[in-house]
Amino acid sequence: MYTLISLLFFLPFITAEGVSSAQNATNFALLYGYPLLAFQNFADQFLEFNATNYLINTQELSSPSSKTVSDVQLTIPELPSWEFALFSFYDIYGDNYANIGTGNIDKPGRYLVQRRQDGTFDFGAQSQGGSQYVAKVTSPTSYGILLIRWGVNSSSINMVHRFQAETSLISVNSTGNGSVAPSLPSLGTSAIFASKSMTPVEKALQLLARYERWNQLETEAGAQKVSRLLLLAGISNGTYSRPSGVDLNVANNSVLQAATAAAAASANNEALNNGWVMTRAGGLAGNFNNGTAFAYRTAIASGGFLQLSNPNAVYPSWVNSSTGGNGLAGGGEVTLGPNDAILYTFSGKPALEPTGFWSLTAYMGNYLIPNSLERYAIGNRNAIAYPDGTPVYGSNATHADGEFQILVQPADVSPPTNWSSNWLPGPSGGGNISVTLRLYGAGPGLLSGQYQYPVVTKQAALTNGTAATSGGGNSTSTSPIYTGLASKENIASLSVIGQILVSLEK
Ligand SMILES: *[C@@H]1O[C@H](CO)[C@@H](O)[C@H](O)[C@H]1NC(C)=O
Ligand SMILES: *[C@@H]1O[C@H](CO)[C@@H](O)[C@H](O)[C@H]1NC(C)=O
Ligand SMILES: *[C@@H]1O[C@H](CO)[C@@H](O)[C@H](O)[C@H]1NC(C)=O
Ligand SMILES: *[C@@H]1O[C@H](CO)[C@@H](O)[C@H](O)[C@H]1NC(C)=O
Ligand SMILES: *[C@@H]1O[C@H](CO)[C@@H](O)[C@H](O)[C@H]1NC(C)=O
Ligand SMILES: *[C@@H]1O[C@H](CO)[C@@H](O)[C@H](O)[C@H]1NC(C)=O
Ligand SMILES: *[C@@H]1O[C@H](CO)[C@@H](O)[C@H](O)[C@H]1NC(C)=O
Ligand SMILES: *[C@@H]1O[C@H](CO)[C@@H](O)[C@H](O)[C@H]1NC(C)=O
Ligand SMILES: *[C@@H]1O[C@H](CO)[C@@H](O)[C@H](O)[C@H]1NC(C)=O
Ligand SMILES: *[C@@H]1O[C@H](CO)[C@@H](O)[C@H](O)[C@H]1NC(C)=O
Ligand SMILES: *[C@@H]1O[C@H](CO)[C@@H](O)[C@H](O)[C@H]1NC(C)=O
Ligand SMILES: *[C@@H]1O[C@H](CO)[C@@H](O)[C@H](O)[C@H]1NC(C)=O
Repeated sequence: MYTLISLLFFLPFITAEGVSSAQNATNFALLYGYPLLAFQNFADQFLEFNATNYLINTQELSSPSSKTVSDVQLTIPELPSWEFALFSFYDIYGDNYANIGTGNIDKPGRYLVQRRQDGTFDFGAQSQGGSQYVAKVTSPTSYGILLIRWGVNSSSINMVHRFQAETSLISVNSTGNGSVAPSLPSLGTSAIFASKSMTPVEKALQLLARYERWNQLETEAGAQKVSRLLLLAGISNGTYSRPSGVDLNVANNSVLQAATAAAAASANNEALNNGWVMTRAGGLAGNFNNGTAFAYRTAIASGGFLQLSNPNAVYPSWVNSSTGGNGLAGGGEVTLGPNDAILYTFSGKPALEPTGFWSLTAYMGNYLIPNSLERYAIGNRNAIAYPDGTPVYGSNATHADGEFQILVQPADVSPPTNWSSNWLPGPSGGGNISVTLRLYGAGPGLLSGQYQYPVVTKQAALTNGTAATSGGGNSTSTSPIYTGLASKENIASLSVIGQILVSLEK
């Protein structure tokens, strides 16, 4: 009798406990797998053509002819010392686990990209003294992304096209013993992503189930813990099935909360000055503490997938302290009225590595802002000017380093001609915009906050009737520039010239 009563009381308790831990594990699985929606979005443009290990925008130099090929060989040409060229490797969750090129191992020659050995947890780029390869890049995952960023201006574009043509990528027979992963298209992830009957949450969990066996966490202890939780969440043998009692909306809300909190957490952000914050240096930015900062990783995947690790690039964002905004990576929103202007007053040129560059890009929603100048970003590769009209950059720059201003004002409100070269058009009629500052090859003063970041102010739009407080210069002809990630949504369109879906399969 006693036994029965305790069982009666005990049973529902066990069940509730079971559900709550499955719910908890599901919350985790979603937080962990959410970036795969961004990855699939990226991968689908390649899978349509079965184009893994294929350098888009250059010629295909070799195609894998046999299923035994599984390593990848990247060849980088000799580049002039002024050229910024960064070859960035990402796992499928968007962790930037290795970089070669500017600021990293940067010798011309051949590089081997290989899936890490089974049972090992190494990853990253390592020089290979005396071997046929300059360095070996060990990938923690079987699938991944290589983004190539070339610094370009109007006078160097033809040369950069030549560098691109001399950069090659071929598949080679594997010398490693990493897991045999199936070909990427055969996982069927495109169909999941395209499904009209699944919610985003279900898609993320199904994608995770397909991908996770070949794409485990970078660190050993973490990988074991993740495997246990995913099993509890209902992910097993390549499929997801919802444990009974688990509510996916609860998981959705918990992920939203966790990601928002991580993006805003002061522990994850470092205050610079004049209202600018950046992702905490030393581990979190871009590589998410070797892939273990799941909530932050998800926050970045939702708005800035394929962010680089610091100091290859840093993305300080401006926060309007008067409105108590938070430090969401990618930049806080500002409202630009139809006759408003936002002025960015730079204290001087941001100090970069010799080949570095910077840009300010305006977005509305996740998109670049249409304008007749076709100017979507502005920075040191444009003919921007000091108030006296002399150029800030280029061989004709004679002015001592000092203050200059960038004007963000609606595309349909032209500023006086002396401002046109420093004008970054906002949306016609105004709107809520976010402006992202990108610093590639950031010098130490930019990371420490020693540099005085731009003062950001709002005022009435500058037109011919307004007395200009300062001016930009008279140049009106600037070519479109190619810097940084072009858009938070469509990474391919403007600036990332080479991008590769890497599939280290056998
Ligand atoms: C799971 O539950 C524990 C304990 O309540 C909590 O600390 C943790 O944040 C939860 N994890 C998720 C992903 O909700
Ligand atoms: C793509 O690759 C998969 C698996 O290798 C194959 O089944 C499929 O037919 C290929 N599709 C195209 C369009 O070549
Ligand atoms: C790669 O391996 C296959 C099968 O073992 C072999 O036929 C082929 O010759 C190898 N290719 C190279 C370049 O070594
Ligand atoms: C794979 O290779 C590594 C290093 O070469 C070795 O330590 C490991 O034991 C090998 N694993 C298997 C399963 O053969
Ligand atoms: C989860 O949240 C996202 C946006 O935050 C929403 O688009 C989606 O419909 C929500 N629900 C599910 C079940 O995916
Ligand atoms: C795993 O799935 C495969 C088919 O995808 C099936 O053949 C196999 O039996 C399954 N294994 C287990 C343990 O369920
Ligand atoms: C990340 O991994 C690298 C290489 O294994 C290690 O040197 C570094 O300390 C790790 N960093 C963090 C923040 O875990
Ligand atoms: C710019 O134009 C103004 C008059 O509109 C002129 O006074 C000034 O010299 C010009 N500056 C340059 C650098 O040409
Ligand atoms: C373009 O870039 C090259 C190489 O960095 C540089 O020498 C040249 O001055 C730049 N031209 C302009 C107009 O900025
Ligand atoms: C520098 O000025 C000269 C003379 O005005 C002009 O021809 C040349 O194009 C300018 N160079 C750059 C890089 O703007
Ligand atoms: C401003 O006025 C000048 C001279 O009156 C004219 O040439 C110029 O086109 C005007 N600029 C704009 C943006 O209206
Ligand atoms: C910042 O917020 C204050 C208070 O709402 C507002 O007056 C100011 O114009 C804002 N600054 C910008 C650049 O949006």
